[in-house]
Amino acid sequence: MTEEIPEREARAYETANGDTIFITQRDGSFYAYQNICPHLQVELEFLENQFLDQDQEYIQCSTHGALFVVETGECISGPCQSESLKKVNINVHSDGGIYLNEA
Ligand code: FES
Repeated sequence: MTEEIPEREARAYETANGDTIFITQRDGSFYAYQNICPHLQVELEFLENQFLDQDQEYIQCSTHGALFVVETGECISGPCQSESLKKVNINVHSDGGIYLNEA
């Protein structure tokens, strides 16, 4: 649900097929990615739901500090520069539900 994810915060979820994803809100839009760093294929967060850097500006990998653009998932700093997080397509419904777009 959108109300679970305040602006500039993120929440991890497990999908029906066992993948972990996270969803974050920025400027009223929601963005979802697989919880896998393109550097070493590990999960991004060290503390629960801590996916953003200190300024809550970028998505950050807690292992080596790579930074990713919230809107695109592109790595702009760190060992995986120019690689990207894997985007998960979601639909936000008017009732506040967030649904994975399985297509
Ligand atoms: S594992 Fe994410 S930056 Fe190295």
